[in-house]
Amino acid sequence: MTMEPTAFMTMMEKRIGLTSEDKSILNSNADWGKGIASTMADHFYTYLGRDEEMNAILNKTEGRIHRLHETYIKWFHEMFTGVDAWGESYANSRWHIGLVHVKIGIGPQHVVPAMAMVVHEVGKLSKVDAKSEELKDALGRICMIDLAFIEQAYVEVSSSAVLRETGWSEALFKRLIATGASSM
Ligand code: HEM
Repeated sequence: MTMEPTAFMTMMEKRIGLTSEDKSILNSNADWGKGIASTMADHFYTYLGRDEEMNAILNKTEGRIHRLHETYIKWFHEMFTGVDAWGESYANSRWHIGLVHVKIGIGPQHVVPAMAMVVHEVGKLSKVDAKSEELKDALGRICMIDLAFIEQAYVEVSSSAVLRETGWSEALFKRLIATGASSM
């Protein structure tokens, strides 16, 4: 269960259907993405701040929310640039973001609605700015890839921790999960 970010990226591009046309559309709208990144960050943290539990996480340490604004702007813009044409650096950065969230206990229940909100808000802004449906679709796809990284990090970290602590084999672990799931 060792995660190889670039291989995971390639698999997700294929499954989600991020095409080279999508990448060109994203690239050619990178300045627009940069321009709306701060507004998107405001929407994002206002949304998270409305939830009591997430608000407590956001404000747990001094300056965290301020730092988050900056990292969000960078993250958002990178979806358009692809960092290194959606290669190794992009995949490693998405894997790292996944690990950061697992460490602070942010799971699927928090991340999935948050990403749905990103897709919804960027869709609204693209409509206001008369952007194409193709751009909106490409953004939806790259958001889903980034979401898959965060979700996969959760699974990989949890499984590795159990395997390390118990010394179980992967096969035994999978069997135990299957048995546990059928008794739920
Ligand atoms: C669409 C989903 C999300 C995206 C794209 C996202 C993006 C990011 C990025 C880019 C970072 C910086 C990672 C780094 O240090 O390199 C980060 C860290 C963090 N995120 Fe998220 N995030 C998401 C969901 C959430 C949710 C739901 C919460 C819940 C409150 C959250 C809270 C945090 C916190 C607390 C940090 C660490 C801040 C620190 O360095 O102290 N994120 N996030």
